[in-house]
Amino acid sequence: MWVFGYGSLIWKVDFPFEEKMVGYVRCYCRRFWQGSTDHRGVPGKPGRVVTLVEDPEGCVWGVAYRLPEGKEEEIKACLDFREKGGYRTTTADFYPKDPSLQPFSALIYIGTCDNPNYLGPAPLEDIALQISNAAGPSGRNTEYLFELANSMRNLIPEDSDEHLFSLEKLVKALLEKPQNLNCR
Ligand code: SIN
Repeated sequence: MWVFGYGSLIWKVDFPFEEKMVGYVRCYCRRFWQGSTDHRGVPGKPGRVVTLVEDPEGCVWGVAYRLPEGKEEEIKACLDFREKGGYRTTTADFYPKDPSLQPFSALIYIGTCDNPNYLGPAPLEDIALQISNAAGPSGRNTEYLFELANSMRNLIPEDSDEHLFSLEKLVKALLEKPQNLNCR
């Protein structure tokens, strides 16, 4: 069993795996449209974390992990618990970065628009402000954003995820001017 990570599963790997591969899934885009009340925010003051949104033109880079044989269900149960804040599982074709390798099916956690924590689209400036102000049991929402942006830059320098990198820029600008942090 392979699991595809496109958010915190890229930089917070707290599960065993046999193999790790950089690549992408098609027909989705990555968006900070999922609310987080159990990791990067709290009920009443949710943070924003990524989900995948269907987009026929889209392509999302990330990392696929092959789970150790015989341990798949046990690890999946831990991941289900970690992703319990609105994510459900589906599968998608994963395309390895190495073009000599064939695509294969991978499990993905997606926060679809019908889950109670889904927040949906908002102006980028509002999302940036929300991320700048949110924190939850797993830490600050800014850590989630910066870890993801740094990992993507290092792993796939050729990817230009405009949504992710624009948010990183906006949040960094907000943190440099703390007087702007609570203004909305
Ligand atoms: C998640 O796995 O969805 C979140 C983990 C984190 O924010 O640290």
